[in-house]
Amino acid sequence: MHSQKLPTAFTILWKNHGVSTAAKSTASMRASSWWSGVEMGPPDAILGVTEAYKRDSNTNKINLGAGAYRDDQGKPYILPTVKLAEERISKRNMDHEYAPISGVGDFTKASINLALGDNNQFSSNGLNATVQAISGTGSLRIGGAFLQKWFPGNKDIYLPVPTWGNHIPLFKHSGLQVKTYRYYEPKTCGFDFKGALDDISKIPEQSIILLHACAHNPTGVDPRPEQWAELSKLIKDRKLFPFFDMAYQGFASGDIDRDAAAVRLFLKDGHRVALAQSYAKNMGLYGERCGAFSLICDSKEEADRVMSQLKILIRPMYSNPPIHGARIAAEILTDAGLRAQLTEVKGMADRVISMRTQLRDNLKKEGSTKDWSHITDQIGMFCFTGMTPDQVEKLTKEHSVYLTKDGRIAIVGITSKNVGYLAHAMHQVTK
Ligand SMILES: Cc1ncc(COP(=O)(O)O)c(C=O)c1O
Repeated sequence: MHSQKLPTAFTILWKNHGVSTAAKSTASMRASSWWSGVEMGPPDAILGVTEAYKRDSNTNKINLGAGAYRDDQGKPYILPTVKLAEERISKRNMDHEYAPISGVGDFTKASINLALGDNNQFSSNGLNATVQAISGTGSLRIGGAFLQKWFPGNKDIYLPVPTWGNHIPLFKHSGLQVKTYRYYEPKTCGFDFKGALDDISKIPEQSIILLHACAHNPTGVDPRPEQWAELSKLIKDRKLFPFFDMAYQGFASGDIDRDAAAVRLFLKDGHRVALAQSYAKNMGLYGERCGAFSLICDSKEEADRVMSQLKILIRPMYSNPPIHGARIAAEILTDAGLRAQLTEVKGMADRVISMRTQLRDNLKKEGSTKDWSHITDQIGMFCFTGMTPDQVEKLTKEHSVYLTKDGRIAIVGITSKNVGYLAHAMHQVTK
């Protein structure tokens, strides 16, 4: 306590003019701090919504900004399979040694098989270079870094409009040039297939194209199987390199294989792809930061070379990835019993699908004459409602419903208790 009131040696010297001229000028050059020139940045668009929600005292308030699954009580949900896997791991008294640079081996092997299907020709023949990464975001970031260094064509990556907000800074940060192609049609709240084909057909050869494998974020709009087939053909004709972001395998339809169909189709069509996987949503391992990045190669020898370079990129970034989430995922994916029980992801997907139907039905009951069919046509965690920024503002100000300005709602935040209130509020601002 005393020492706080006592002047420091520095202030005594300063007052007594005992400081040398050189030391004085260095101190004044630095003014107050090294960081006085740092500008205040804007808050994160999505986390800012949750902050505003927390400050609201309205007991009817609803947070539809955050993309994290909630059960019908509005509570975070731990999958029973995850609990079981964790119990088994804890009984084994495992050590906390470092994982290899490429991550937990059982996990990376199981992860690529989940994406491509058991006994697929690629991982069975060693044609994949797969590394564990820091969830979906980290997997995309490793992919960005690898492509920036080694992609032989243009360092341009084409993203759909709109796309997950983090894709743009993430790929820019990786040193790629970010460009776009049409994806969403506001008039129909659906897929702009014609616009996408048109734009993709003009992308210069040897560029990279990013595709959301399923449950496109933020629109919830996915191409139909026959549209994927056409996209695959065009992307091949244009000699583009497809980079799949698969953050929602199993979470979209409830069926792990169905949600991976686009990736598998592209491989069948002869593409060599990059793939980012996340276990945040389908296993609810959000904070465990468990994911994988893969490149499919032409030979085992090529895969080995690619792997060596992935490790060289990872080592100075974070040395090696965290082990806990990867052990959980590996336990589930490699144990036949737990793997069969992973159908629990269907329970989450089904609740989301049911909330879509209930929201649409309730809007009708409220007397809305607008066409809300896109709510049930879209898939996955989010719905692009088509509400305008003015309507969104009203919804928040007058009804305490929190969402991003683009009109996206996280369906996972709707429950059978609040869906009536939400439909009433949405009708009030859109009629
Ligand atoms: C399209 C898409 N890609 C990647 C991610 C990455 O998620 P995470 O880093 O939490 O796995 C998300 C999460 O919202 C997403 O929606």
